[in-house]
Amino acid sequence: MKALVIIGTRPQIIKANILTKSLLDIGIEVELVYTGQHYSKELFTDLIEELGIMEAKYNLQVGSGDNKYQIRLGVTRLLPVIKEENPDCIITIGDSNPALVGSLGALLTDRILVHIEAGLRSNDLREPEEINRIYIDSLADLMFCSTEENYNNLSKEMSCGEVSITGDLLCDAWCYSNKYIENCLNQFSSQYADNEYYLFTLHRKSNAYVKDRFKQVMQIFSEEWDFPVVWPVHPGVILELKKNNIFDCLCKNKNLLLIPALNYFECQWLIKHSRAVITDSVGIQVETYLSRKPCVVIRDKIEHNYLEDIGWSIRVNLNAVNSHNFVYRLKLFYESERKPHNPLLFGDGNAAVLMANKIKEYLLK
Ligand code: UD1
Repeated sequence: MKALVIIGTRPQIIKANILTKSLLDIGIEVELVYTGQHYSKELFTDLIEELGIMEAKYNLQVGSGDNKYQIRLGVTRLLPVIKEENPDCIITIGDSNPALVGSLGALLTDRILVHIEAGLRSNDLREPEEINRIYIDSLADLMFCSTEENYNNLSKEMSCGEVSITGDLLCDAWCYSNKYIENCLNQFSSQYADNEYYLFTLHRKSNAYVKDRFKQVMQIFSEEWDFPVVWPVHPGVILELKKNNIFDCLCKNKNLLLIPALNYFECQWLIKHSRAVITDSVGIQVETYLSRKPCVVIRDKIEHNYLEDIGWSIRVNLNAVNSHNFVYRLKLFYESERKPHNPLLFGDGNAAVLMANKIKEYLLK
């Protein structure tokens, strides 16, 4: 039995690292195909070294570009790889372009398609990730949902594939990192005081690469903050800040501490010790909940609505009218009541084992 796992962005590397180990453990041969969408040292080489993930046999070297470019080139370069490797199934993770590339590759070569993180929906078709999710789930033969909410989304769409709830690979990774970070990142505790900083991250195209919107988001840093904000900046966003001539100005802002993109374990440490997290990332919302911290999401619509229902996440739709008083609203949210924390919401840390067994079962059918 042979699986081809298609990855290309930072979060996929983190998740594939856990999954490939479980697949290999039960005798499924695995080859990793890297599309090359993320290539910067901070997003790729450092992470590969840090996690010690198995080496990808192929790098499709797609690089940066618009969605159509990345998908078209990715699929064109993936097809000969599928022919060469002749896998029984193709595994895609999440909703970024490499996941769609893998899914189209499976469709065009008539392979079994496995989709991890199925059923995630924001219902916002302005975001390329939402379009990717719908396509991938409509093509997948075997789908693994992280939560019941995701499972229910799929039931409404009457998808054809086999669906199950397995938990989230990010929870597996988080359980592992939790044991590791406190021993290995002692130096951080002298730099960042517990509960005395906010962690801020921003990378989404709709926030960071749309000029007016980006300006509105940056507006929040002109307010008076009660605690400093630590912002590890995505390399693409650094380019955007420089292009808009605000990089130097933000570096001088006394509320803000701009730092280079973090490695995986550092990021988990900073989430765990923060006061709250402000982000537009889906994965960081999950990790923030696992670390029992409140999360402000800079999005109009979100995927894990349940986190909002139980008071652990809040959406802030920043537009020209309401980009003011952000800090005041943050304070109200910080002090608001939340439902008790459910440590099993995203699984018990064994999602990869469950997935691997279900894939084997399916291939044996
Ligand atoms: C992509 C995914 C998003 C995922 C995110 C994780 C899509 C449509 N989006 O968004 O779902 O949450 O990855 O980080 O696939 N750049 C660099 N170095 C790199 C890669 C990119 O500097 O290694 C710059 C380029 O200028 C590029 C920009 O960052 O244009 C955006 O990168 P891209 O991969 O297109 O999208 P992400 O925002 O990273």
